[in-house]
Amino acid sequence: MKMLFILLGFSFFAKGFTDYTVTGVVKGSVEFICDSDKQRELKYLYFQGGKDFKIFLNGWHSSKSFKPTRPETTSVNHTERTISMWDLKVSDEGRYKCIISYKDSLDGTTEDTIIHLKMTANHSAPTITHRNCEKVGEGYCTLTCTAIGVFPVSKIAWDVPLVLEQRWTEVNHSDTVVQDINTLLYNISSTANFSCPGELQQNTNCSVGGVSSVKTPVCQQHNDEPTNSPGVGTTMGREVPVGVMAVAGVLLRLFLLVIVVVVIVVVVKVLYWYKMNHN
Ligand SMILES: *[C@@H]1O[C@H](CO)[C@@H](O)[C@H](O)[C@H]1NC(C)=O
Ligand SMILES: *[C@@H]1O[C@H](CO)[C@@H](O)[C@H](O)[C@H]1NC(C)=O
Ligand SMILES: *[C@@H]1O[C@H](CO)[C@@H](O)[C@H](O)[C@H]1NC(C)=O
Ligand SMILES: *[C@@H]1O[C@H](CO)[C@@H](O)[C@H](O)[C@H]1NC(C)=O
Ligand SMILES: *[C@@H]1O[C@H](CO)[C@@H](O)[C@H](O)[C@H]1NC(C)=O
Ligand SMILES: *[C@@H]1O[C@H](CO)[C@@H](O)[C@H](O)[C@H]1NC(C)=O
Repeated sequence: MKMLFILLGFSFFAKGFTDYTVTGVVKGSVEFICDSDKQRELKYLYFQGGKDFKIFLNGWHSSKSFKPTRPETTSVNHTERTISMWDLKVSDEGRYKCIISYKDSLDGTTEDTIIHLKMTANHSAPTITHRNCEKVGEGYCTLTCTAIGVFPVSKIAWDVPLVLEQRWTEVNHSDTVVQDINTLLYNISSTANFSCPGELQQNTNCSVGGVSSVKTPVCQQHNDEPTNSPGVGTTMGREVPVGVMAVAGVLLRLFLLVIVVVVIVVVVKVLYWYKMNHN
């Protein structure tokens, strides 16, 4: 009796039941390996998902053929006993099951693998999109950091220079999260208020999920409207090329010179005319 119990226990564990997690990236692909005994011939391999794994997504059967429900983004390799999923979306996050049955399995037991698919998005670097400085007492500046297309939602972290450690507060963060209803990706932003003593020259950056913005000056006396560039690693502020500045300067000087000459000529003419008429 005791022997039988041990045998049953052993066969229960030997049946094989694997459960693991795979991380996928939005628009990327993943491969799931179904737990199986390669020595035994397959009867079928089914890939199922949805609630209680009731939805048949794709599969292979040694003697039947059927229409997969997701042929455009999944495939089954029955020789390798693997499943591929591509063009991944946030909505693909969830649990899947790979069910394998062997030809020599007389009692119909299957070998199941449960896969948890966790999704992340490769978002671009966050950008510091707005800086607004006002002179109140010793002066303060507010900076806004924005990250586009983030998943899962995460918090923006500010890298604050040591001198400003006691002189800043995060004004706005969690209340400025928006989720796209189609892609389920988040746009998040955070506004931080730095107090700026004197003409302090310090840089800060912000980061989300290990990706940092470029370093940006914290304190500036005048308000500015930095360029809101969606790309990675662009600098702040309106940068006018040096050549344009030089040409503008020359033109301005020429214009002033012409005005002065015209004024002198007019004054001389008027004086001359006055003299002629009063003599
Ligand atoms: C995500 O980023 C990693 C690292 O930069 C890169 O290797 C991978 O190809 C990216 N994946 C997608 C789907 O963009
Ligand atoms: C299964 O994978 C193997 C190895 O990558 C490959 O040689 C074979 O062509 C694949 N079979 C199918 C049906 O895709
Ligand atoms: C926080 O953000 C919201 C929306 O952008 C804005 O209306 C509100 O004034 C901000 N709060 C502070 C304290 O800056
Ligand atoms: C997120 O930001 C991008 C770029 O600014 C914008 O196109 C998109 O509409 C935003 N999504 C939401 C849900 O606001
Ligand atoms: C920033 O902080 C200063 C003082 O520390 C305060 O007077 C000012 O109202 C704050 N600005 C914002 C936008 O919260
Ligand atoms: C952001 O700031 C931190 C701390 O100053 C620094 O270690 C990191 O290299 C900075 N990242 C970038 C991209 O400048």
